[in-house]
Amino acid sequence: MAKAVRFDQYGGIDVLRVVEVERPVPGRGQVLVQVKAAGINPGEAKIRTGALAGRWPSTFPSGQGSDLAGVVAQVGRGAGEFAVGDEVIGFTDNRASHAEFVLVEAGHLIPRPAHVPWEAAGALFVVGTTAYAAVRAVAAAPGDTVVVAGAAGGVGSIAVQLAVNLGATVIGLASEANHQWLADHGVTPVSYGAGVAARIRAASPGGVDAFIDTVGTGYVELALELGVAPERIDTIADFAAPAKYGVKLEGTAAAASAEVLAELAAMIDKGLLEIPIARVYPLSEVQDAYRELARGHTRGKIVLVP
Ligand SMILES: NC(=O)c1ccc[n+]([C@@H]2O[C@H](COP(=O)([O-])OP(=O)(O)OC[C@H]3O[C@@H](n4cnc5c(N)ncnc54)[C@H](OP(=O)(O)O)[C@@H]3O)[C@@H](O)[C@H]2O)c1
Repeated sequence: MAKAVRFDQYGGIDVLRVVEVERPVPGRGQVLVQVKAAGINPGEAKIRTGALAGRWPSTFPSGQGSDLAGVVAQVGRGAGEFAVGDEVIGFTDNRASHAEFVLVEAGHLIPRPAHVPWEAAGALFVVGTTAYAAVRAVAAAPGDTVVVAGAAGGVGSIAVQLAVNLGATVIGLASEANHQWLADHGVTPVSYGAGVAARIRAASPGGVDAFIDTVGTGYVELALELGVAPERIDTIADFAAPAKYGVKLEGTAAAASAEVLAELAAMIDKGLLEIPIARVYPLSEVQDAYRELARGHTRGKIVLVP
């Protein structure tokens, strides 16, 4: 038997339970991974409440979680080069990684590079591929000034670093508590709230070329007000904005691959990308982990460890 997170109905955080389930057995092309770390994401909370049931319904009992890193425990037939004991980073599309053991398609795994800490590895997939897609969508390049809303959150903390690495000047909208972290990573921090447009203008004398919105709540309109061209605005949180304004909505789905995951892991391995870990919770405290996430001010990632 093995522990896994389950919920039996849509609802608040209290519907989450940690239960004993049969240890899964890998089928053809699958690998059984003993999870060392698994990130949590706001999208999982939205699925759990039923807010996304029209697009992504749940079947009950439902598991949870996409991000994972761990050690190969068993290999199914035709599962490529993987062997028991290999350290891997990956993802599952089956809402299953918040568990001691998870079945993963071999094509959704990459080897864990030596200098990628377990917590960063286990939290990388959703936010990493989303940030990658967003930075690519706005075509951040040397000489550009790029604004990132939600600059110190899970997606934003990676997006700002990717844009800096590409040679852009990056302005990060964040609470004061995150300003030092942003400055330490080559980002100009700006507080959000009343007067934010004027503060961004003051910080960008040459104007703003591109805008990444990871928050929703009016940031696409702010970007347009700042004169950013719609094709250089990407939102991952304002689903109505593309139809209204012709801006982009490129997130996880646009870059969800083992190849992108490997590229991001290599950057971490070389010291070019940091995944800030806000807090690590044991799997048994999954409810507390989502309570912290729901406060909406996480710097980087919250991670579960079985
Ligand atoms: N479409 C996709 O493919 C996709 C993929 C991943 C995530 N998402 C969505 O993107 C959003 C962000 O995800 P995440 O994982 O980065 O979340 P997160 O880690 O919880 O980060 C949230 C961030 O939002 C900031 N924030 C809160 N209120 C703000 C405000 N009024 N103005 C500016 N910033 C504010 C917080 O910054 P401070 O702490 O500095 O206040 C915090 O850093 C979620 O809605 C998630 O569901 C979409």
